[in-house]
Amino acid sequence: MSARVVLLGPPGAGKGTQAALIAERMSVAHVASGDLFRKHLSEGTELGALAKTYMDKGELVPDDVTIRMALERMAEPDARAGCVLDGFPRTMEQAKALDAALEEQGERIASAPLIEVEPEELVRRLAGRWICRSCQTPYHEAFSPPRTAGLCDACGGGLYQRDDDKPEVVRARLETYERQTAPLIAYYEAQGKLRRVNGQRSVEQVTADLEAAIGA
Ligand code: AP5
Ligand code: MG
Repeated sequence: MSARVVLLGPPGAGKGTQAALIAERMSVAHVASGDLFRKHLSEGTELGALAKTYMDKGELVPDDVTIRMALERMAEPDARAGCVLDGFPRTMEQAKALDAALEEQGERIASAPLIEVEPEELVRRLAGRWICRSCQTPYHEAFSPPRTAGLCDACGGGLYQRDDDKPEVVRARLETYERQTAPLIAYYEAQGKLRRVNGQRSVEQVTADLEAAIGA
């Protein structure tokens, strides 16, 4: 089984939804850079305040702080045997830093599945998304509503809408993705690790396709 997976895809493709399911099946950690920044923000740390200035504009948080935060999270006990990376790496510099850090440990990324979804569908998904304040599970008011309105099925936490899911910020996030993150597709393709998966199917079908793609 592949222990370290980079889940690629544009904002709203379903990375968070799928990473949680796949990490559980693989018994590895789900490491989500966006969730880590939002945790810092809710705890009122300096890093959280810095990250917010970029997130609110749909821009990327600088590489140095992002790389440090992600690698520290990957070094925690639950992630040492493996992880599903969701939202990291997102620039060429981050991808190279990740490969270098793993190589030092005699480790490597096993595969990099890309969840592909049309831009119009991404906008629909982000506009209707609600997230659990406690465990970060994403829901959609039409496509995957919680059993009880406003409450998380998994932990009972309250649901909220992200500030950066406003239409103007979504547009900026999609542009940032094309400019800074899409080049990673060629990077992982050149390493023979890219696996393309159609993200415009049911959550269950996408999970099955991802598992087949990564050999989990
Ligand atoms: P981040 O939190 O990573 O956001 P993102 O990449 O924009 O992706 P999203 O979380 O919006 O979408 P997702 O793919 O996880 O989709 P989800 O599963 O929720 O990053 C936020 C910000 O933090 C960035 O803009 C940046 O500023 C900063 N940041 C983070 N990482 C960084 C890094 N490495 N470097 C620098 N800065 C960084 O699903 C979306 C919706 O669709 C949900 O409502 C869901 O229920 C629904 N849905 C999911 N699957 C399906 C399906 N199959 N059918 C129908 N609906 C579905
Ligand atoms: Mg996400």
